[in-house]
Amino acid sequence: MPPLLSVRNLGLTYPNADGGLSALRDLTFDIAPGEFVAVVGPSGCGKSSLLQLLAGLRLPTAGSVLFEGEPLTGPRRRIGVVFQKANLMPWRTVLQNITLPLQLQGLPAAETQRRAVDLVELVSLTGFEHTLPRHLSGGMEQRVAIARALIHRPDLLLLDEPFGALDALTRDRMGLELLRIWDRYGKTIVMVTHSITEAVFLADRVLVFTPRPGQLRAHIPIPLPRPRALSQTYSPQFGALAMQVREAIE
Ligand SMILES: Nc1ncnc2c1ncn2[C@@H]1O[C@H](COP(=O)(O)OP(=O)(O)OP(=O)(O)O)[C@@H](O)[C@H]1O
Ligand SMILES: [Mg+2]
Repeated sequence: MPPLLSVRNLGLTYPNADGGLSALRDLTFDIAPGEFVAVVGPSGCGKSSLLQLLAGLRLPTAGSVLFEGEPLTGPRRRIGVVFQKANLMPWRTVLQNITLPLQLQGLPAAETQRRAVDLVELVSLTGFEHTLPRHLSGGMEQRVAIARALIHRPDLLLLDEPFGALDALTRDRMGLELLRIWDRYGKTIVMVTHSITEAVFLADRVLVFTPRPGQLRAHIPIPLPRPRALSQTYSPQFGALAMQVREAIE
């Protein structure tokens, strides 16, 4: 299958007083349709910048990002993004937050409602449709943000450390939840994470970045069987893969 995303000699330099800050340098990789790819690397190596480029929210200063072979020149409905902070509208309920992107687009109310109700179920928030964000836990807020990102039925879902602010147990639960969503939804996911365990547990492939300017240090395939269960994280194979990722980072 042709790649969904092709990154070619991608570079990003932010303008600054001393001639520019190089955030990403000469990245080349492909992402296949349906793949789950995790991106790991030291803080400040350009992971969030990369996600913005893959979302079309920022333009490269070198090279290109191709979405189904076409240069990505701006945001697309077929690409959904979840940022590190859920950024929900505090005065809108769960359902109203999820429907917001479609309302802005002017889709018929009945269709909008139908999609939102399906998504509430998909992210296991049934019963909380009319709850305001301040009455949700952090994990629930992130699930609302994931549902909101899915409302356009994107082919590519980009996640920037979506579980970074959660405790370890909730994080594990959210990881399983995400795998279930990915399985049912069947789309491509690129997820930035600081957690090596999370990367190995979730992904088909882990991309490891060097310190800034971020360059690709390793592609590590994760041949663990699916569906995955948390018990797999205790297996010797899992340990060996996590070690491989850790060594690539260091
Ligand atoms: N809007 C911006 N303008 C200028 N410089 C920026 C901007 N955003 C990021 N940078 C710089 O680019 C580099 C990469 O930042 P980025 O946020 O992409 O890293 P990151 O890998 O996501 O880090 P973290 O793991 O801490 O989230 C940093 O040195 C940062 O200072
Ligand atoms: Mg970041």
